[in-house]
Amino acid sequence: MKLTGKTHDIQVLEKSFDVWKVREDFPILSQQVNGKPLTYLDNAATSQKPQAVIDAMTRYYLEENSNIHRGVHFLSDKATQSYEAARVKTQKFLNAARPEEIINVRGTTEGINLVAQTYGRKNIGRGDEIIISAMEHHSNIVPWQMLCEEKGSILRVIPMNERGELLMDKYEKMLNERTKFVSVVHISNVLGTINPVKEMVELAHRRQIPVLLDGAQAVPHMKVDVRELDCDFYAFSAHKMYGPTGVGILYGKHDFLEAMPPYQGGGDMIKSVTFEKTIYGDLPHKFEAGTPNIAGGVGFGATIDYLDRIDFKTAVAHERELLAYATEKLTSIRGLRIIGTAQEKASVLSFELAGIHPHDIGTILDDDGIAIRTGHHCAQPVMKCFGIPATARASFAMYNVKEEIDALVRGIHRVIEVFT
Ligand SMILES: Cc1ncc(COP(=O)(O)O)c(C=O)c1O
Repeated sequence: MKLTGKTHDIQVLEKSFDVWKVREDFPILSQQVNGKPLTYLDNAATSQKPQAVIDAMTRYYLEENSNIHRGVHFLSDKATQSYEAARVKTQKFLNAARPEEIINVRGTTEGINLVAQTYGRKNIGRGDEIIISAMEHHSNIVPWQMLCEEKGSILRVIPMNERGELLMDKYEKMLNERTKFVSVVHISNVLGTINPVKEMVELAHRRQIPVLLDGAQAVPHMKVDVRELDCDFYAFSAHKMYGPTGVGILYGKHDFLEAMPPYQGGGDMIKSVTFEKTIYGDLPHKFEAGTPNIAGGVGFGATIDYLDRIDFKTAVAHERELLAYATEKLTSIRGLRIIGTAQEKASVLSFELAGIHPHDIGTILDDDGIAIRTGHHCAQPVMKCFGIPATARASFAMYNVKEEIDALVRGIHRVIEVFT
């Protein structure tokens, strides 16, 4: 970060992105695994955390720990301020209209379940249709299936082509008077496809159909502006964007949230309780029953501060370059097939090697200190679509470097050698 301020009392900070400097912010990256430098390419599962986030959470426990919202004492007030400040930071980060539109949840999964169980149960009934896509994570399939089972509603699935791109003409035709909700992934965790979600929202809105976007893989890799997308709900997890585990955000448009019944009942979500009747609290507390992950919330605030100090545009361009470099290198390996070759892709590279099980690939790469993910990635229907049981998946973050992709390529050649 460069100081460019000229006045004595105000220093204007110019954002910058130097990948080697950024790496220094992430202490875990400097460790050795199996005697080799760690090559962490499992960022779609969870990303690593910068020192600033770790420090903020430690500081919270050292200096502020207290329960929030209810206390009149010094520490409770301090903790409440830190926790609520994070909500405002999140609002600005997403360009949401109001802080009450930011609901703190445990992660993407809980955000989607919240919408299915509150908006869905209230507004979706027998014979109504819910549209998802063929490339959803289980967390954007199962909550809707549960709702369909309970209500007698119908789950419809937008198909995709062999590159892993949604068939938009099919989607457009699927939207009809029975469609009551659309819930689609912004970026696929298996294929890396960036879906044309703005267009998808627009098409649904022409029929007044609300749309939820699963942004778990998008928020770490692109600037997300919920007002520009005009989505009605947007769910994501802090831990995939350099923040703590157990923290997630559900953005919802104010009028939707206001009209929805609460998700869970308990402390903190009420105005008053008698045995005869409970009056629920105002937004956002109506959806936040019980003591939340306060340290995590504070840590997430620090995550946004950290990202705010980075030139995110350059970071995104760096990630794009890594993906292009890795795609070119892996494509040239004989017997390797990349799963997911969409025109618009981000940061995820799934592949299979002829005759070698992905688990064996992962295990041999681990010997070299290379962490990738293998399996169905909680997206079994995607595996079925491509006629495979599993893939190996390398996924990138802004702190990865080309040298790590070179290490991956050497590792894959070693896997091939072992098996031939
Ligand atoms: C696209 C997508 N949606 C949802 C999830 C679920 O996120 P979480 O487990 O943090 O709730 C994931 C996690 O991998 C994901 O990649």
